[in-house]
Amino acid sequence: MNKPISLSRYLLEKQRESKNESVPQGQIPPKLRLLLEIVARACKRISHAVNKGALGDVLGGAETENVQGEMQKKLDIIANEVLIEANEWGGHLAAMASEEMDSIYVVPNRYPQGEYLLLFDPLDGSSNIDINVSIGTIFSVLKKPEGSNAVTEQDFLQAGAKQVAAGYCIYGPQTTLVLTVGAGVVMFTLDREQGSFVLTDSDVRIPEDTKEFAINMSNMRHWAPPVRRYIDECLAGKDGPRGKDFNMRWIAAMVADVHRILTRGGIFMYPWDKREPEKAGKLRLMYEANPMSWLVEQAGGAATNGKQRIMDIQPTKLHERVSVILGSKNEVERVTQYHNS
Ligand code: AHG
Ligand code: MN
Ligand code: MN
Repeated sequence: MNKPISLSRYLLEKQRESKNESVPQGQIPPKLRLLLEIVARACKRISHAVNKGALGDVLGGAETENVQGEMQKKLDIIANEVLIEANEWGGHLAAMASEEMDSIYVVPNRYPQGEYLLLFDPLDGSSNIDINVSIGTIFSVLKKPEGSNAVTEQDFLQAGAKQVAAGYCIYGPQTTLVLTVGAGVVMFTLDREQGSFVLTDSDVRIPEDTKEFAINMSNMRHWAPPVRRYIDECLAGKDGPRGKDFNMRWIAAMVADVHRILTRGGIFMYPWDKREPEKAGKLRLMYEANPMSWLVEQAGGAATNGKQRIMDIQPTKLHERVSVILGSKNEVERVTQYHNS
């Protein structure tokens, strides 16, 4: 058997390849390497807290609301604090933004300021925490625009195509960190005895076709006609226009549904619906949809909002929402075509 490669060694090897000033796609500048190491360390700490469950006073509600008007769980807050404390002093970041914070968190003056911006959903799938089902942390890394001095929210408003790294860590039967820096998708599994993430998949690919879809079916009556048509056709199975039977899966944590898709294909949708017509969707563009879209594209899949590629959307605010359709390429293209025809 080959010697296992740790996340640290993987990142170092990617860094070594880039000695020159302009760093080619997929190679990692030293400060970005440090940043990713620290995010991984924070995820390890969150994973330990998640694993303690009822033994660690981490379950249940916190009785506070976040900026999106959602009730926070204790773990939402713990995970947010772990990520901030781990990242604020390293010198690689200018500021952070999180689902759980109204506005951006600028690195305090007492610490050195770096050139990167980190965005995260500290705990995705909050409704799964107390029932012992998979949850995760999603993150996206941007560069602070050239020439900007004091960092502002405006600096964060960059399209997903500008990301320099993106990934998530899923806390399930295994803890797995999934990463892209623009040269494919790699997965690392946490070896608890060694305390390190070990490379377990170096070329993640999503099959172009699938027979599996993920959507919250209870919202069916609220969907727009193109989404309704697509799902109706899937449900008609062998006898319908698709001529094949489909299977449905819904874990209610984007992180876990996307992980399934990266592992064996499928399509995931959280589309716009008419319950709150003024909102583009439920999921947030900058720290849920963009990082997941990049991972999916890097694995050969596609991600759109029904009309356009998610990563091309120019954000207008930090907590902007978006309609999400992602996964196996041919299925995503089909739903998108239904929206555009
Ligand atoms: P979060 O826990 O960060 O608020 O995100 C939950 C999101 C997403 O992960 C998941 O796909 C969706 O909400 C689940 O929504 P339903 O409650 O409609 O199942
Ligand atoms: Mn989330
Ligand atoms: Mn969350």
